[in-house]
Amino acid sequence: MSGQFITFEGGEGAGKTTQAKMLADTLEAQGVEVILTREPGGTFGAESIRKLVLEGTDDRWSGMTELLLMYAARLDHVEKLIKPALERGAWVVSDRFSDSSLAYQGYARDLGPDRVRAVHDVVMEGFGPDLTLVFDMDVYLSLKRVETRAAQDDADLTRFDKAGQAFHTTIRDAFLDIAEKEPQRVKIIDADGSRQAVHARILNALTARYPEFAGKLSAA
Ligand code: TYD
Repeated sequence: MSGQFITFEGGEGAGKTTQAKMLADTLEAQGVEVILTREPGGTFGAESIRKLVLEGTDDRWSGMTELLLMYAARLDHVEKLIKPALERGAWVVSDRFSDSSLAYQGYARDLGPDRVRAVHDVVMEGFGPDLTLVFDMDVYLSLKRVETRAAQDDADLTRFDKAGQAFHTTIRDAFLDIAEKEPQRVKIIDADGSRQAVHARILNALTARYPEFAGKLSAA
């Protein structure tokens, strides 16, 4: 099978990062080369842009400026890491990708999804994920998880974590809308449950899309 590009999407605190790692481990156990990466970031240049865009006050950037920063980071990521990996047959698992721009900058930040899609089409020239898993869970529960994690790790909340419950409800609805519009590519994963339960749901979604894995994938 040729290299496949899988993205994990959803609101904050839904466990994407943990689950992306678990999926990478499971695929590697099948002898697949996996590149695990994230956005904004994934390359040296894109990680520098990540700092600019995630730190500071909520009103630091206008919606369009923020979108262009995300796409500058994304293009570097695609050109330098993602495409070369896919071309040599590796699988790429990315913790967030362009659907986050659609949800956060498009639906939630007044730009509107159409302007985000317009920028996307110019910059990405038809390139995109083969499969996208949207992690869906109750907004109140996910924000509780974000707060607990920040307190435990003594980590700073990002500009987006701080944006409030209404913002995060908009984000959740945006991802559900994206999934409804592109049911072939985008699958919803119920993110409420134990790590193993959610991992099992992901393996089911993967096997449905790649039947060659049927009966082969077991939890890492
Ligand atoms: P991060 O701490 O990685 O969040 P999470 O662990 O929830 O993925 O921060 C990434 C933040 O950047 C997150 O709040 C979503 C936001 N974001 C956008 O607004 N647009 C984008 O295109 C991307 C990739 C991320």
